[in-house]
Amino acid sequence: VKRVTTHTLAKMKEAGEKISMLTAYDFSFARIIDSAGIDVILVGDSASNVMAGHETTLPITLDQMIYHAQSVIRGVKRCLVVVDLPFGSYQSNSEIALASAIRIMKETGAHAVKLEGGEEVVDSIKKITSAGIPVMGHLGLTPQSIYQFGTYAVRAKEEAEASKLLKDVELVQEAGAFALVLEKIPAALTQQATDKLKIPVIGIGAGPHCDGQVLVMHDMLGINTEFKPKFLRQYLNIFEQATKAVQNYIADVKSGDFPNEQEQY
Ligand code: KIV
Ligand code: NA
Repeated sequence: VKRVTTHTLAKMKEAGEKISMLTAYDFSFARIIDSAGIDVILVGDSASNVMAGHETTLPITLDQMIYHAQSVIRGVKRCLVVVDLPFGSYQSNSEIALASAIRIMKETGAHAVKLEGGEEVVDSIKKITSAGIPVMGHLGLTPQSIYQFGTYAVRAKEEAEASKLLKDVELVQEAGAFALVLEKIPAALTQQATDKLKIPVIGIGAGPHCDGQVLVMHDMLGINTEFKPKFLRQYLNIFEQATKAVQNYIADVKSGDFPNEQEQY
């Protein structure tokens, strides 16, 4: 199989071919998603929410992200694997950011890291990329800043924040990022950013005018049914189907129907 690299994504942008990206956190789902033909798997710090049950992405640690990434990598043959630098593992300074990125690359075999922010993380993006590690940026509604935002509402609706975002996306590109995630901003603003940039822009709740789309796997498969923002398209209702399966199993155990003649030694 021909592996997807950061260069593949650049060529896809040039050719106008949309980039597909989904999150994954474990071996079994990474195997499904990779063999289905996805371009990029993101080992997102959304693991904090959907795997660990935390309210925000803040509590997840670098060690825990590394565990998830190691599991994902074992299930992947083809796609590019990007791992989120979790909250606290890069904000202090660029040396700490590089040390965290190096741990991810060395201990997991992943292909790139992602971090949130613009101007304030430029030095870290430069430092990490100069060590040969590809960096994906992330702007707009950056969940690690949720307590500063105060809400999960759409970002950059006002002129001041929108023009700051347009400056930030360019700074992130100049610093050496190979791609950028834009989360929950107006579609028209995404279009401006995408037209401005040479690097691929991957959107979530950011409209159709970008080079690719990303969703959280648990949301699009309907594993987590409490989270239903307008931008989410749900492709399956695993919560409902798994509930029925478990109820059927319970009933079969209680009635003595399971195991039958064939299901024993
Ligand atoms: O952690 C995550 O799942 C993400 C995506 C929403 C882009 O950062
Ligand atoms: Na994330």
